Amino acid sequence: MELNHRPQRYKRCALTSELCEHLSLIYYQKYINKSRGHICFFYGFVVYLSNMNLRVEQLINIAKRKMKHSNDPVHDLDHVTRVVKRVKEFIADMDLSHDEKQAVILAAWWHDVARSITKNPSIIWMSIVDDNISAFMLWMKSIRCGLFGKTVGLSTKILVCKSFGTGALLTRLLLRKKHRILVNLLDDADTLDMLNSERVSKMLIMIENSRTYKMGYRVVVSWCLKSREFKLRTEKARKILVEMIRKFILWIKQKEIFDWHIKQFGKKWVDRALRDANQFLKSITLKTCS
Ligand SMILES: [Fe+2]
Repeated sequence: MELNHRPQRYKRCALTSELCEHLSLIYYQKYINKSRGHICFFYGFVVYLSNMNLRVEQLINIAKRKMKHSNDPVHDLDHVTRVVKRVKEFIADMDLSHDEKQAVILAAWWHDVARSITKNPSIIWMSIVDDNISAFMLWMKSIRCGLFGKTVGLSTKILVCKSFGTGALLTRLLLRKKHRILVNLLDDADTLDMLNSERVSKMLIMIENSRTYKMGYRVVVSWCLKSREFKLRTEKARKILVEMIRKFILWIKQKEIFDWHIKQFGKKWVDRALRDANQFLKSITLKTCS
């Protein structure tokens, strides 16, 4: 079904984009030719901007549609929507241009689209390659639909630079100093969502049916609580993390959740995890408040 609708959808995208570009050019030329004044230039610029907004909006809608069909319950539309919300919260009072804000929001919508291409996304290899695949998918889609532009280009770079392993090097090579913060913002928003109780609840169901997920959860929780994984790079994210760890400890202490963890991992592991969580909370509270 999906494949049959694709050509039509692409045509629709391309047609809308072409039409917008054509209209903006006509308006731009009309106003510029009429008086060549500053006001007319301003109108032309507004039309050009609204065209770019429309392109970004179209690409966001495509990402939403793809994430609706994600087969990975912890990397689904809900997760992406929360990450986008967090990114918007981070950038609200930051000194960023309209293009930069749009680019990081678009990257947030697309950052897990790679998870939608397979029925069984691997917990291991998908975590390593997902950002690069998502970047490639965004780039391809924007070209095929005629929606590519400066903002989309920056979004693609943000995703490539967020990738596991090579991200740090690529950030230095591909992004200007002032744009590097955009990668940190998206990375922090994504990392913080690891502690979202709604998301962890979904993971518990997967753990019951998969030994790999059980092992993965155990390793990730132990690792996170020893504060190695949560290398948040923005001050705002660190403050939010304190609140999220508090909520996470309360969530894990609920009788039903607590008993489930004891059944799956044993009392010794749960006691150690809670002790590590409390110590981590203390240390990050001290760092954040000092
Ligand atoms: Fe994510």
